[in-house]
Amino acid sequence: MAKTVVLGVTGSIAAFRAAELASALRKERIDCRVVMSRWARQFVGELTFTTLTGKPVITDDNLGDLADRPEHLALGDEADLFLVAPATANAIGKMAHGIADDIVSTTYLSVTCPVLVAPAMNVRMWEHAVVRENIALLRKRGVKVIEPDEGILACGDYGKGRLAATETILAAVRELL
Ligand SMILES: Cc1cc2nc3c(=O)[nH]c(=O)nc-3n(C[C@H](O)[C@H](O)[C@H](O)COP(=O)(O)O)c2cc1C
Repeated sequence: MAKTVVLGVTGSIAAFRAAELASALRKERIDCRVVMSRWARQFVGELTFTTLTGKPVITDDNLGDLADRPEHLALGDEADLFLVAPATANAIGKMAHGIADDIVSTTYLSVTCPVLVAPAMNVRMWEHAVVRENIALLRKRGVKVIEPDEGILACGDYGKGRLAATETILAAVRELL
């Protein structure tokens, strides 16, 4: 039976790269269910993911058929892996502290499968003490973190913060599945 990856997309400039990831998962015959934060939708449209995955995208404005099981719980039932890519500093902070105020953070609390996080942010954010602590907290709880790459960032700064290469994320997905 095909495995299911629930892909949480949050509001980083790297959100467009989640489309490549979704497409690559489908090519590997892995079912991909996308949940997007409101900020993620500022960067890339739901239609992109609906088309690439062949499945409806779940957002806070499209919570699926609520007459049935609430979507975050249904996704929790289905997921073999919860992957957040790109993961913003905000999303990481919410996951670390159990804040569930949107579909991505609520889904995190609803899954029992392995969780993989691929952060993307400015180097100063990545090196901020609170982000370091939040990453350490997630790791302590068994969340696997794919370190961002170092290089020229979207804002023009240089440092660590670029979303890891798609192939690196896919290798981690394969390993956890
Ligand atoms: C142009 C732009 C680019 C951004 N890129 C990032 C980013 O790469 N990483 C990050 O952590 N936050 C980034 N932010 C800030 C987040 O979008 C903001 O913290 C937002 O509240 C995140 O919400 P979410 O985690 O619910 O998606 C960016 C904001 C803007 C306006």
